[in-house]
Amino acid sequence: MLIKRPADIRPSEITPETVYRERRHFMRMAGAGVLYAAGMRFAAAGAEQAYPPLEGPIAKSAYSTTEEPNSWDAITQYNNYYEFGSGKRDPSRHAHRLQVRPWTVVIEGEVARPRTIGIEELLKLPLEERIYRLRCVEAWSMVIPWVGFEFNKLAALVEPTSKAKFVEFTTVYQPENMPGTRLPVLEWPYVEGLRIDEAMHPLTIMAVGLYGRVLPNQNGAPLRLVVPWKYGFKSAKSIVRIRFTEQQPRTAWEKAAPHEYGFYANVNPAVNHPRWSQKREKRLPAFFASRETQPFNGYAEQVAHLYAGMDLRKYY
Ligand code: MTE
Repeated sequence: MLIKRPADIRPSEITPETVYRERRHFMRMAGAGVLYAAGMRFAAAGAEQAYPPLEGPIAKSAYSTTEEPNSWDAITQYNNYYEFGSGKRDPSRHAHRLQVRPWTVVIEGEVARPRTIGIEELLKLPLEERIYRLRCVEAWSMVIPWVGFEFNKLAALVEPTSKAKFVEFTTVYQPENMPGTRLPVLEWPYVEGLRIDEAMHPLTIMAVGLYGRVLPNQNGAPLRLVVPWKYGFKSAKSIVRIRFTEQQPRTAWEKAAPHEYGFYANVNPAVNHPRWSQKREKRLPAFFASRETQPFNGYAEQVAHLYAGMDLRKYY
């Protein structure tokens, strides 16, 4: 999804490097199978200590898909978290530097009770497992067993007013710990936004865990948004600020490349990205895009009504 950069760096100079990195990653996976598998086992063993099980009961949900989830290793070692670099392995290599405690979330704007809430309090909300498809705008997808709570539960704590038409989400900015922020790939901090009805929809969750364990930093610890019917870039990671607004927020990707990444970003096989098709997707670990992309990533029954009467080619 590499996008607009400073005028002196042309995308053509960057894409080959990305392709090269991806190819190297694939070669390592395919060619050095034995070593790779051994490394993964080690990583998984380490993960047990680093990411303990979440406390308290975790309810199942009717919103979960029955599709087979991707492995812990796949979900935690193939990431987009540009603050840690633009390669898929960069977040798992560098995100251990992210400071996730103490952690507070400022909730402000068009609300009756603005508050700053500590992560410990949020972790006491009733937790659910949500096994969701994640479809990246880059045309790969996974199935991920998140643990979290509906965003509307968080909103209830601050009571949005009738002027709240949108919600803006801001990622933490720790330049000293985030090597990727030295490059002006995006305007930091990473900002995303939703319309209020999208945010309040029961499918929209704040995730705090993965596979019943504490969320790994590279996946957006300690608290990230998950909006399963939209391209993955809407699901902002490591959130420190939530602002209810009257005006539509300007998001980081829109600012960087408005013709490529719109505010709505609903998964839509009928609207191609200007540089590639969205008709099909690569369900990792597959290497080819052999699956048909589902409208709204397969959640049309739940969310299509939110867009009744809207031209989804215009509001892409
Ligand atoms: N949030 C922040 N702060 N920075 C990012 O670069 N990347 C987005 C989204 N959230 C991103 C982010 C993109 S493009 C995707 S596809 C998902 O995170 C990837 O989530 P995952 O790494 O947990 O699979």
